[in-house]
Amino acid sequence: MSKLLVTGGAGFIGSNFVRYVLDNTEHSVTVLDKLTYAANVASLDGLDAQRFSLVKGDVKDAQIVDQLVSEHDAVIHYAAESHNDNSLEDPRPFIETNVVGTYTLLEAVRRFGVRYHHISTDEVYGDLTLDGVERFTEATPYNPSSPYSSTKAASDMLVRAWARSFGISATISNCSNNYGPYQHVEKFIPRQITNILSGVRPKLYGAGENVRDWIHASDHSAAVLQILEHGRIGETYLIGADGQKSNREVIGFILKILGRDKDDFDLVADRPGHDLRYAIDYSKLRTELGWTPRFSDFESGLTRTIQWYESNAWWWSPQKEATETRYASQNTQIRESKTSS
Ligand code: NAD
Ligand code: TYD
Repeated sequence: MSKLLVTGGAGFIGSNFVRYVLDNTEHSVTVLDKLTYAANVASLDGLDAQRFSLVKGDVKDAQIVDQLVSEHDAVIHYAAESHNDNSLEDPRPFIETNVVGTYTLLEAVRRFGVRYHHISTDEVYGDLTLDGVERFTEATPYNPSSPYSSTKAASDMLVRAWARSFGISATISNCSNNYGPYQHVEKFIPRQITNILSGVRPKLYGAGENVRDWIHASDHSAAVLQILEHGRIGETYLIGADGQKSNREVIGFILKILGRDKDDFDLVADRPGHDLRYAIDYSKLRTELGWTPRFSDFESGLTRTIQWYESNAWWWSPQKEATETRYASQNTQIRESKTSS
């Protein structure tokens, strides 16, 4: 049994991981989270207090980081500023948390000799052509497009340098787009589900043709645990679930599941620098560690996710208005209306 320190555990994927670990292992978990706008402590409701605790703090705070790292067997670093649209408005918090925060953790794991797993994204590789069939592999060169993805790329590079120069026991995973319960309503899938549930038409950027490779957060958690326990030190593993879908296709599923007309959405101004397509080749994870995703049917995973948002408006509705106010001040003017509501 190990003591795990999970940074960013009050966010979407971190809280899914904490639940996954408590449900499937005997490890105990301490969450270190700054509780930014993206956190929701209610995502951690009902966890076993014997095996779980939450510390409010910043990953840039070397004092609290040193103290906590010295008391744990492994660090799993999820904490980040995570939303591309916000990074285009104000990149500074992305530099601070994603780069300086990661540096602060790396210095602590180096000092105390603690195992470190770094959570990253496939967005560090840039994008693929829309009509191509190629996928990212662990050998794909880094080519990030946005302030968000460039700060994640920078943090990955820091981990590699600390592993090589200082010999820290690190692994890295780069995962594709996650969906599932407890995701903030600023992100694509929950934004559109909660728009519809609030009587607002979903909003697709550009022509809606961009492709993302969707994976359920629970599958991401299972893969991270597998890498943490059985991965080779110093290695990077890509995590994906063969879930490529265009944004139009995803909206089509959501509208169908919620019983709405298939054209009941708006096209809005595109995101600057919008990556065209992401796709993950996770052969290394499959062949080396025997991992495969459990949520192989996107539509049924999405149906369960929609049911979760329908049943848990208490969880998301307090954040909805502020999120849409923020979007309204950003670059999302409606440029074409598909149908009148
Ligand atoms: P999220 O925005 O939902 O959660 C981030 C959490 O980090 C929040 O609880 C927030 O309070 C916390 N945090 C932010 N700054 C902090 C700081 N300075 N100190 C301590 N805590 C801080 O993000 P998410 O979608 O759950 O993403 C988690 C991780 O997974 C990120 O590293 C992200 O890059 C990576 N990732 C996300 C996706 C995705 O689809 N969302 C895909 C691949 C990788
Ligand atoms: P997002 O959830 O922001 O994830 P990422 O930028 O990390 O891929 O967006 C997923 C896709 O959905 C991306 O192509 C942008 C698009 N999108 C929309 O079309 N409308 C929206 O309101 C949002 C938030 C995203």
